[in-house]
Amino acid sequence: MLLFQIISCPWFLISFLVPCYGSLQLGFSKLQRGHRLDRKLIQSFPELSFLDCVIECLVTPRCKSVNYFKGANFCEINYENKTTAETRYMESAGWVYSEKEHWPKELAGACSNSTCKINQTCKHKRYSEDKFFECVLSDCGIPDKKGIDLNTTRREDAIGIHRRIHASCADGYSQSGSGWLICQSNGEWKYDIVCTVLPNIAIGKPAKQSSTKSDYNAACAVDGNRGTDVGVDKCTVTGDGDRYPWWRVDLQAVYYITSVRILNRGVDTYGVDLSFQLRDVTVTVGLTESDINTPCGFFAGPGTASQLVVIDCPTSTQGSFVKISKTTEALTLCEVDVFGVPV
Ligand SMILES: *[C@@H]1O[C@H](CO)[C@@H](O)[C@H](O)[C@H]1NC(C)=O
Ligand SMILES: *[C@@H]1O[C@H](CO)[C@@H](O)[C@H](O)[C@H]1NC(C)=O
Ligand SMILES: *[C@@H]1O[C@H](CO)[C@@H](O)[C@H](O)[C@H]1NC(C)=O
Ligand SMILES: *[C@@H]1O[C@H](CO)[C@@H](O)[C@H](O)[C@H]1NC(C)=O
Repeated sequence: MLLFQIISCPWFLISFLVPCYGSLQLGFSKLQRGHRLDRKLIQSFPELSFLDCVIECLVTPRCKSVNYFKGANFCEINYENKTTAETRYMESAGWVYSEKEHWPKELAGACSNSTCKINQTCKHKRYSEDKFFECVLSDCGIPDKKGIDLNTTRREDAIGIHRRIHASCADGYSQSGSGWLICQSNGEWKYDIVCTVLPNIAIGKPAKQSSTKSDYNAACAVDGNRGTDVGVDKCTVTGDGDRYPWWRVDLQAVYYITSVRILNRGVDTYGVDLSFQLRDVTVTVGLTESDINTPCGFFAGPGTASQLVVIDCPTSTQGSFVKISKTTEALTLCEVDVFGVPV
């Protein structure tokens, strides 16, 4: 009973009661002032006291931490904490960050014994005789549809019921729709985004390079073999002494080229790592073999072992040839993917 009194107590009284509740003190002592966790929101609540905000987290199984803005009594509950989403933990004036684990479970009252599912939240039922709590849907979960990139979400996006998040399509996919995902009241996402796999238009097409070392010829970059051990998997390698190496592919039709991906070499069977040689790489596009000069992009490098370097071309870059060149010796490509749509 005392517990419920604490919960409904005004903020200023809590400090008097804390000495009796050592574990509450732990929660307060571990508050991270001037910080919050960004873009991992389940739900937000205006006009909530700090302790009610913590309780909201305690009764929601998915919740791991809260952000609280004292100036506006604004509460945000998060599905990650600063350990699981390190890069999202940031300084933010006026905010307080707190982790669920620092608060006594008992603060949740009857809900501390609930068996609510991960996508539910526990609500107290004060006047019911048989049961003191019920589980209601809280969120739509973290979307995991293939091809969807959640790195473009916005500050206010949340996964809770009636909330929405902004997504985009990952590299190698084309996007249609507004990009919004809406969490419906039935706990299911409504996707206003369709990500379609783009075909790799370079695979199997005729390729050439400025010079060739041994049998590491130009075709090795469009053979569909994505292994990165040069000796075993066959990648392209230009000849020793070739100071301006280049490689090109003939797509055999004109395309709007959206992006080019280069799969870099990895560590070989002998443990040798030459992946750093992928540097100062220029990608150009052209309509004829003799004029491949429209810039698509540049990779300064140095590359890392088995890195997939993604180069996005400016919109409406047109061509039927793609050329990769550099101004230092040794150009090695384990695979080159080209994405685009026919003109
Ligand atoms: C953060 O969340 C993880 C995973 O749920 C948990 O193991 C960890 O104890 C939490 N808190 C901290 C401070 O790491
Ligand atoms: C939770 O369950 C335990 C044992 O089942 C019981 O002793 C305890 O009083 C319960 N707590 C609440 C808040 O209902
Ligand atoms: C999103 O960003 C994280 C790191 O911030 C990265 O590991 C992940 O691959 C990115 N996802 C996509 C689909 O680009
Ligand atoms: C909620 O999660 C449970 C499993 O924990 C799952 O069976 C159920 O389908 C989920 N509900 C919705 C609406 O996604």
